[in-house]
Amino acid sequence: MAHDKPVALVTGANQGIGLQIAKELASKGFTALVGSRNLARGEAAAAEIEGDARAIQLDVTDRASIAAAAEHIRSAFGRLDVLVNNAAISNTSWEAGMSLEDYARTTRPSVVSFDEMRAVWETNVFGPLAVYQAMVPMLREAPHANIVNVSSGAGSLMLNADPANSHRPMYTPVYAASKTGLNAMTLAMAVELEEDGIKVNAVSPGFTRTNLNKYSGTETVEEGAREAVRLALIGPDGPTGTFSHTNGLLPW
Ligand SMILES: NC(=O)c1ccc[n+]([C@@H]2O[C@H](COP(=O)([O-])OP(=O)(O)OC[C@H]3O[C@@H](n4cnc5c(N)ncnc54)[C@H](OP(=O)(O)O)[C@@H]3O)[C@@H](O)[C@H]2O)c1
Repeated sequence: MAHDKPVALVTGANQGIGLQIAKELASKGFTALVGSRNLARGEAAAAEIEGDARAIQLDVTDRASIAAAAEHIRSAFGRLDVLVNNAAISNTSWEAGMSLEDYARTTRPSVVSFDEMRAVWETNVFGPLAVYQAMVPMLREAPHANIVNVSSGAGSLMLNADPANSHRPMYTPVYAASKTGLNAMTLAMAVELEEDGIKVNAVSPGFTRTNLNKYSGTETVEEGAREAVRLALIGPDGPTGTFSHTNGLLPW
């Protein structure tokens, strides 16, 4: 028999925005599955969540880990109602003391390391797609399902095409372009799942104080999680195929 509560899987939920999303979904009556590539860190995070939260080992770059997580969700709960693709990395080669601008200079198209680019895209683009492929059969069986992909305004082609945008020098093939790739996956998923009634949306948390930016962000995790939580909870009349921030829609 299927679990009596709706089940939400949040990837990379052992810290940062993902942990906050898991906390809020648990507080809304979900069984929140705290995806973590390191199970012990996931268990520690789940223990600090009020409500029903359980750790699940999930490395989004490891197909065997993803398949085992999907099998576990099916056998333990028999359902999945919400998927939040939140896990991401910003780099693998940022050296201590390097400024954001210096790192961006090392990742311009003319000099970018393909290893660096592949590592980030593996986590930020292929990872969410692989998790989607493993979880979509269960989402299709749910009474109503939502997918939220945690993207970034840094990935907006429209915003970065504007010469007046001061963040433009940060638009490089590694992190920013990986989020453009994730936006493309979001739209492709939304198109595929339109006939199933499953909503797929991308969100930008805004510049949030987390490990990703060495806690230099200006927003709290509560603020950073808000739009993802809103879209994780939308009903059958909610939007699909959108890219948004708490302040409103963002251009792709
Ligand atoms: N913070 C911001 O200002 C900001 C702005 C725009 C968008 N975002 C997006 O918000 C999301 C959450 O980021 P955050 O700021 O909360 O960063 P964070 O605190 O660094 O959290 C990232 C999470 O992803 C996990 N992760 C990384 N690689 C993984 C993998 N291969 N498999 C599974 N989990 C993996 C990390 O696990 P470990 O603990 O094991 O490293 C961690 O739990 C990301 O998609 C990020 O791009 C953040």
